[in-house]
Amino acid sequence: MHSIIGLFGLLGGLSLCSAAPAQNITSDVYFYGDSPAVYPSPEGTGTGSWATAYEKAKALVAQLTDEEKVNLTAGVSSTTGCSGVIAAIPRVNFPGLCVSDASNGLRGTDYVNGWSSGIHVGASWNRTLAHQRAVYMGQEFHRKGVNLLLGPVVGPLGRVAEGGRNWEGFSNDPYLTGALVYETVQGVQSSGVGVSTKHYIGNEQETNRNPGVEDGVEIASVSSNIDDQTIHELYLWPFQDAVRAGSVAIMCSYERINNSYACQNSKTLNGLLKTELGFQGYVITDWGAQHGGIASANAGLDMVMPESTLWGANLTTAIANGTMEASRLDDMVTRILATWYQLNQDTDFPAPGVGMPASAYSEHQAVIGTSSDEKGTLLDSAIEGHVLVKNTNNALPLQPSRLVSVFGYDAKIPDAFDLTFTFLSSSPPIQNSTLYVGGGSGANSPAYVIAPLNAIQQQAYQDSTAVLWDVSSQDPDVDPTSEACLVFINSFATEGSDRPGLTDEYSDTLVTNVAGKCNNTIVVVHNAGIRLVSDWIDHANVTAVILAHLPGQDTGHALVDILYGRANPSGRLPYTIAKQASDYGTLLHPSEPQTPYGLFPQSDYTEGVYIDYRAFDKQSITPQFEFGFGLSYTTFDYSGLNIQKSNGTTSEYPPSATIQEGGNPHLWDEIVTVTAEVQNSGSVDGAEVAQLYVGIPNGPIRQLRGFEKVLIASGQTVQVSFSLNRRDLSTWSVEAQQWQLQSGTYQVYVGRSSRDLPLTGEFTL
Ligand code: BGC
Repeated sequence: MHSIIGLFGLLGGLSLCSAAPAQNITSDVYFYGDSPAVYPSPEGTGTGSWATAYEKAKALVAQLTDEEKVNLTAGVSSTTGCSGVIAAIPRVNFPGLCVSDASNGLRGTDYVNGWSSGIHVGASWNRTLAHQRAVYMGQEFHRKGVNLLLGPVVGPLGRVAEGGRNWEGFSNDPYLTGALVYETVQGVQSSGVGVSTKHYIGNEQETNRNPGVEDGVEIASVSSNIDDQTIHELYLWPFQDAVRAGSVAIMCSYERINNSYACQNSKTLNGLLKTELGFQGYVITDWGAQHGGIASANAGLDMVMPESTLWGANLTTAIANGTMEASRLDDMVTRILATWYQLNQDTDFPAPGVGMPASAYSEHQAVIGTSSDEKGTLLDSAIEGHVLVKNTNNALPLQPSRLVSVFGYDAKIPDAFDLTFTFLSSSPPIQNSTLYVGGGSGANSPAYVIAPLNAIQQQAYQDSTAVLWDVSSQDPDVDPTSEACLVFINSFATEGSDRPGLTDEYSDTLVTNVAGKCNNTIVVVHNAGIRLVSDWIDHANVTAVILAHLPGQDTGHALVDILYGRANPSGRLPYTIAKQASDYGTLLHPSEPQTPYGLFPQSDYTEGVYIDYRAFDKQSITPQFEFGFGLSYTTFDYSGLNIQKSNGTTSEYPPSATIQEGGNPHLWDEIVTVTAEVQNSGSVDGAEVAQLYVGIPNGPIRQLRGFEKVLIASGQTVQVSFSLNRRDLSTWSVEAQQWQLQSGTYQVYVGRSSRDLPLTGEFTL
């Protein structure tokens, strides 16, 4: 057994045995690491803002029969199009719950917007915008009668470069992800809709995410084997921010963690989530992720979706025969009903599922989810996730007087879509139309889509210029009088499978074909994750490159605003682009089961916290474009670094405090503040993302620990300020089981990206 994995102990086999409903998984020779048992399941305490909601919930629970309680703990089939439904209890005026996907807009219905995806929000590095986007998205779910939004995604965190769902999350960095999920949770929930931050935890690959059968042999889900320090410093970090923000639900994932299924892992549910982070809401399964009966209830699971064959009346039998405490069932139901009160859904909510048609063309009333108030935020959030990575010969912004030519399959709108639209999850590695969202349960059917070619046509109409296009050929002819050739390609990713690679030959050949004929070739890549560009990035005729990510329905307008200089690009990469795929090392591909069958596939997180830029820094690998990188139409200068230790803050951990949502409240004590001045030294206004990295003694060379996006007028200087709290400056001590500040010298870096850091300093604790 691997030593660090062994820290979790040996008791998890208990829950693993009950993890195998219909098969005989008994041998433990395949075990690599295990989770220790943490029992009993902590009851929700109604701490902080939850006090009143818990009081009301307890009063309601006291009126329920056992059968009614049990019915609240699992979904039922329904005539609505909700992803999951909890049945009503009319006797006590409880109307039931509708829960639906997902983080980029409501899926499976009409009259809703298609918002920028998680990775796009990550690339925008804008807390305020993330918050506004979430408020409006939440309002749409509210109008449609959806009580719980199945998102946001902070797992995967992008450990595996080819991960199929990385685009649903914000970034490969826990700090950036944590800051943005905090705003997203608060934004959505301020509109009276709950969130279920997902997928908890270690959901880092799609390969073997579910159990399967090969040649008649049952194979378990992959086990993400994560040591205690790594889980705290990386994978739990953004969940901690989500809980602190008040996330009313957490969705447990399909995978096993240290060999126990995530939805019955008592260490991660009872231990980390409900004890250490003081989580007050309920744990909901991913769809079909329940693999054990009473074991999952005792391990901390509260609600099963879309339905449970393992719970139901078995829960009351288990109470009668002593395998489960009655208080556990009461706690499950209290947590569920408390969220309903917490969000005021008892007084102010439409009929659950009112705006969710059973299927695409079934009879239904038009329930309008959208509102014109959202327009500005929808466009801004589409604009800000575009990252300009190359701009030579003043290629951008465009100032055409005659003609631009447009090439590439990604410039055009899809041929058709309806409410079942999950973005054609069938044809990786590209989609044969513009990619504005990835595939699977994170896709939705927006009110409209403005493709790049349409928006460019509108621009030509306005400017009285001309457009030529060929969006079907791989080797198009080019009018020699074109002032610019815009080439659109994409890089697809979807739930259900990992990506076949980080490049594709068809698209790379298309780019080099056009570049061979046009000396002002501007490449736009709609990328659902990391996309390598080394085949053509240094081509002399490729003058500008935009990594456009997944902007949502306003994609074309957003892009044209940037191309024509109405918007100054301000996105920064939320991940690292390597020069070659092999630079990601063992984190390029997902883990595969060992031959011949690998009945219990294992994924050993032996790299610890060294994923993405932490790994590139550690191994001194020069990336093509580093984490945090992005160009603007202006330039920014940095000066005046100031580092101030907060008065009266000791490095000693304060005496134990009552755990609040998010954990020990002293984690948020401010320890150090850092300020710096940023000047816009160019000729146009623009927004800069000032980034702060810290080198913690004995830790990675540097880790993001602050960022501020500031709009600065040309010639102006602004001060940026970063507050570093106890968690930001601590490492997780396995021995002490708490975050600890390190004695020694901390390095401080402030600048434009993880590798362009003009200001450096240090302080000692
Ligand atoms: C996905 C979840 C989603 C659920 C409900 C699952 O397959 O993993 O992210 O919320 O389906 O559609």
